[in-house]
Amino acid sequence: MSAQSRAVLITGASSGMGAATAVRLARDGARIVLAARRVDRLDAVAEQVRQAGGEALVVPTDTTEYEQVRALVSRTMEAFGRIDVVFNNAGLMRVGPIEKLAIADIDRMVRTNVLGAIYVLKETVPILKRQDCGIIINVSSVLGRKTRATAWVYAATKWAVTAINEGLREELVGTKVRVCAIQPGVVDTELFDAFETHPKKAFSITHPIKPEEVADLLAYIIDRPWHFNVNEVLMRPTQQMV
Ligand SMILES: NC(=O)c1ccc[n+]([C@@H]2O[C@H](COP(=O)([O-])OP(=O)(O)OC[C@H]3O[C@@H](n4cnc5c(N)ncnc54)[C@H](OP(=O)(O)O)[C@@H]3O)[C@@H](O)[C@H]2O)c1
Repeated sequence: MSAQSRAVLITGASSGMGAATAVRLARDGARIVLAARRVDRLDAVAEQVRQAGGEALVVPTDTTEYEQVRALVSRTMEAFGRIDVVFNNAGLMRVGPIEKLAIADIDRMVRTNVLGAIYVLKETVPILKRQDCGIIINVSSVLGRKTRATAWVYAATKWAVTAINEGLREELVGTKVRVCAIQPGVVDTELFDAFETHPKKAFSITHPIKPEEVADLLAYIIDRPWHFNVNEVLMRPTQQMV
């Protein structure tokens, strides 16, 4: 599949790494389905995608709802007839000592970061297997390899993504479907908007990774030929200790 007609499904496309990756892949002419909950933000990203030279379809989706994920994938297939890239990216982070973490935030992290990501795989993997081609990019974290006081619920969800990625990779050996997990450190997105102290400040990071830099890396990984499967990529700002 040439980069021009590539069909891409992105969850968490309304901001941060999802939005940046949509715009980056649009520069190669990709056809992109943008999924998240905030429709106004998705519409704005869709406009940027079109201006960059791509095609965009907005499908408002809450990935914690299985029926919505099913509908998202069938809309994608109706529109494009195939899926070449799945960026399984929707997620959130809340931190705090366990007695201070609201149960609603714990539920939302586990439901979005783990269950939602699994729902996306449940619906897309059979399609990529049938095509015998495509790439799935899962979003883990530095905290998918480490754990920290006050961030271990989030870390547990991202360790889960690391486990999912490796198990799925093994399951797909013998096909031409590639599976990759990225494990970023601090990327400058809205992920930390709800934090009392931004990690940039907490860790004295003046130069976090930019979402566009992650998007460039993903474009490189996606462009590799089918036999070259980049399985995991750990990345941090040079200034990040943890
Ligand atoms: N930024 C970092 O330093 C960093 C580091 C490691 C890993 N990550 C991971 O990277 C991924 C992307 O985050 P980001 O940094 O780009 O932050 P972001 O700008 O906050 O993006 C998060 C995206 O997830 C979407 N989302 C959240 N809950 C959703 C739900 N239930 N259904 C559908 N979409 C949902 C949000 O859209 P709506 O609110 O519109 O639904 C948004 O588009 C996350 O999985 C995050 O855990 C980030």
